[in-house]
Amino acid sequence: MDEQRASERLTAEEKVALQTGDGAWNTHAFLQKGVSSIRMSDGPLGLRKEQDGAIVPAVCFPSPSRIACSFDPSLARDLGQALGEQCVAEQVDVLLAPGINVKRTPLCGRNFEYFSEDPLLTAEMACGYIEGVQSQGVGCCVKHFACNNQEYGRYVCDSVVDDRALREIYLSAFERVIKNAKPSMVMCSYNRLNGEYCSQSKFLLTDLLRDEWGFEGVAVSDWGATDDRVKGICAGLDLEMPQGDTSDVARALQNGTLSEAELDRAVDRIAELSEKFTRKQAGLDKNKQHKLAARLAEESLVLVKNSCDLLPLATTDDIAVIGRLAEQPVYQGEGSAHVNAYKPDSLLQALAESKVTFEYAQGYGDGNKDDAELLERAIAVAERHSRVILVVGAAADAEAFDRQWSLPQNQLRVIEAVSAACPNVVVVLQCGAATDVRWVNGVKALLIDYYGGEASGRALCNVLFGKAAPSGRLAESWPLSLPRWQQGVGADFRQVQYVESGFVGYRYYATANCPVAFPFGYGLGYGKIEWSDVAVSQPDKKGKIKVKLTLTNKSDVKQAEVVQLYYRNDDGRGFYPRKNLAAFRKVKLGVGQARSVTLEINVKQFASYDTANGWSVNGGKYTLWAARHVNDEAFPLSVTVDGENNTVDLSAELPAYYNVDEDFCPTQKQFEQLLGREIVLPHSNIITVSTPLCEVTHTLIGRIMFKKAVEIGKQYPVSFLRILPLRMLVCDELSREMLVALIACMNKPSPKNIVKCLKAVLKHRKERKRAAEVADLADN
Ligand code: BGC
Repeated sequence: MDEQRASERLTAEEKVALQTGDGAWNTHAFLQKGVSSIRMSDGPLGLRKEQDGAIVPAVCFPSPSRIACSFDPSLARDLGQALGEQCVAEQVDVLLAPGINVKRTPLCGRNFEYFSEDPLLTAEMACGYIEGVQSQGVGCCVKHFACNNQEYGRYVCDSVVDDRALREIYLSAFERVIKNAKPSMVMCSYNRLNGEYCSQSKFLLTDLLRDEWGFEGVAVSDWGATDDRVKGICAGLDLEMPQGDTSDVARALQNGTLSEAELDRAVDRIAELSEKFTRKQAGLDKNKQHKLAARLAEESLVLVKNSCDLLPLATTDDIAVIGRLAEQPVYQGEGSAHVNAYKPDSLLQALAESKVTFEYAQGYGDGNKDDAELLERAIAVAERHSRVILVVGAAADAEAFDRQWSLPQNQLRVIEAVSAACPNVVVVLQCGAATDVRWVNGVKALLIDYYGGEASGRALCNVLFGKAAPSGRLAESWPLSLPRWQQGVGADFRQVQYVESGFVGYRYYATANCPVAFPFGYGLGYGKIEWSDVAVSQPDKKGKIKVKLTLTNKSDVKQAEVVQLYYRNDDGRGFYPRKNLAAFRKVKLGVGQARSVTLEINVKQFASYDTANGWSVNGGKYTLWAARHVNDEAFPLSVTVDGENNTVDLSAELPAYYNVDEDFCPTQKQFEQLLGREIVLPHSNIITVSTPLCEVTHTLIGRIMFKKAVEIGKQYPVSFLRILPLRMLVCDELSREMLVALIACMNKPSPKNIVKCLKAVLKHRKERKRAAEVADLADN
C-alpha cells in the first residue's frame, strides 16, 4: 500500500485479530488498510477446497509416497505446477502441502502424504513439487515441522530425539527445502519436540527457521495445535489456524507479557505475504490434468518381482482378474489429504477400454472377514486361466491413526489359494506405505501400486501390458520384520523415544546387515540395462567429486534407470550408518541407446552433526557406491577427503550405537547418554488445555466431558478420544473461554471459579443466539 508497515496502519484490535484465522481457511482482511486475506486449502494429492460444506472436485494425483518412487524431481515439478493451476482456478492462495517428514516407521498413518525415509530424496522431490506450485503465483506451506512421525497421540506426544538425528535426518529435509525452494509458509506440527510443543518452540520457529535457514514467510500452526498462543507468538509462530479465541493475546498485550513488537512482527509477516497473491481468473482443463495424473502414476509404479519375465502380459493372454480393488481401487488416503476426485478410474475399466478380455472375480469382501463363497469362486476362476492379475490392499490409511503393517487376513488367504490354483500370479499391491509381503515367495510377480491417484487404473494397465516399462524405485525399505525399536511405536501417547538415533530406514537395515524383503531404491524394468566405465574423481579444490558411468539399454523397449550414489565414512571414530544417499539421477534410455551419466556431489554433504561443534566433515577415506539400490555393492569407489579427523570415539559409552545388529534397541540409559540429559515424561498435576481427556476423569467435570466426547464422537474409537487434549474439544457448543473456565474449576472448584464458569456458559449461549439471528437475517 505505502511505505508504512501493516502494523503501523492497524489498530491493536485489528492486529490481535490478524494473528489468528478468520474461520477455518482464511486470514482476516482489512482491505481499507491494504491487508487482504490469504486463502488456504489442503493438498497434497490434489486441491481439497471446502466450500459451502462440500469439497470442490479436483483431479486426484498420485500421493507423495508414490511420486517419490519416480526418483524424478522434474515429475514432482509437473505435479506441483498442475496443483498450482488447480489453486489458481479455485482462487486459493496457499496450498497446505507438501508434508516433508522423514518416515521413521511403516506404521505411521500419514506416510502416504510423505515422500521418503531418506532426507535427501524427500528434499529433492519436495523442492520440485514446491517450485511447480509456486511457479503459478501460489504459495506452498510445508508441514509438519517437526518430528510428527506417528499419528498415535500426535496432539500431545513428546518426540524425544538427539541433536544429531534431528539435524541429519528429521530437520535436514526442512533445511534444504526452506533454503532452496523458499516456500511461503511452514506449518508446525501438533506434537512436542524434546519436551516443548512445536507451536511454541523458539528453537524451531526462530533460531533454526529464521536465523539459521533464512525463512522469510509465515509460520502457521497446524489446525488446533496451539497450546499457549502467547508463548507461540513470542517463539515466532505468526499465525494460529483455524480461528481461535483472541482474549489471551489481548490480555497479554495489555499486561505486557506480550510486547507490541512481538505481535507486530507476526502481523507484518502475514500482511506482507498477503500482498504477494493477486488472484486471477483462469480456467482449468481437467481432462488434461487427468491425463497428466496417468503419466505421473505410470512413471512411478514399482515392479519388485518378475520371475520368468511373466510381465509384461500380452493382450491375447488368457487372463483372470481377481480382487475387489481392481474394481474399487484404493488410490488415495483419508483425512485432510482426501480429494473429491474428478474422474476416478479402475483397473477393470482401463482393461475394458484397452479391449483386453478377462474373467473377473471379486475374491474378498470389504474389511477383514472371510467369505467362503467369494474365495471359492476366486479359486475356480484362477484355475480356468493361465495368468492371474490379483489386486490386494488394505483399507485407506488416514491421518490421526496409525496403520496396520499386514494385509487383512481374508486377503492373505486369497493370495495363498489363488497362487495354489494358478502358477502365474501377478499381485498388484495398493498401499500407502511399506507392507508385510512375506507371502511374496508364493507369487510370480509383484507390482507396488502406492496410492496412484484417480488415473492409477490406466497407469497399471499400461505397465501390465508393456505399453510402458516400469521405472519406479522404492523410496523406503520394505522390511521382513519390524525392528525391535519400532515395536514401541503406538505404545505410549505421552512420549516416543527415538532411541535408534540416525539409524532410520535403510540406514538401519544396511548397518545391521539385516535382510529386507526389498531394499530402498529397488525396482525392476522390462529388460537389461548395462552399467559400464564407472569412475570417480578425487575431490577438487572446491570439494566437488564426480562419478561417471555409461548406461546401455540392452532391451527392446524404452526404459529408465535410476542411478544412485551412496557413501560411507571409513575413517571416522564416531558411529555412522553403513550407507547414506548422496545423489541420484533418473535416466531415460531408448531401445539400444547408450548414455554417459555424471553425478556430482560435494564433500560438504559428508558432514555430520555434533552438539558441541556443529557440522563438520571428517578428513580421511570414504567409500562411494554407484548403485541400482542401497544393497547393490557392485561398483565400490574410494575417495580421500582432506581435513582433520577429530570425531570423538564414544564406543565405550555408547556400545549399542557402534554395534548395530538385528537386536539393535539401545537402552534408555544409553539413549540418555546420547541425548546428554535424563528423560522425563511430560506430566503435570495441573490440568491445562493440553491435558488429555483420560487424565481429567478423576474430576466430575472431566467425567462429564469424557461422556459427552464419546457421545458426540461416536464415529471414533474410544481409544482415540481418551487421549485427545482438552483444547481439541472446542466446538460450537464449547468455546475456548468456557473450556478455560471449566479447567479452572477442575483445578480448584472454588465458588469464584464456578461463577466464572457459569458466566462463560451464559456469554457463549448469548453469542450463539446472536450469531443465529444474524444468519437468519442474511438468509431472508
Ligand atoms: C492436518 C494438516 C492440515 C490441517 C488443515 C490438520 O489436521 O494435520 O496437515 O493441513 O488439518 O486441514
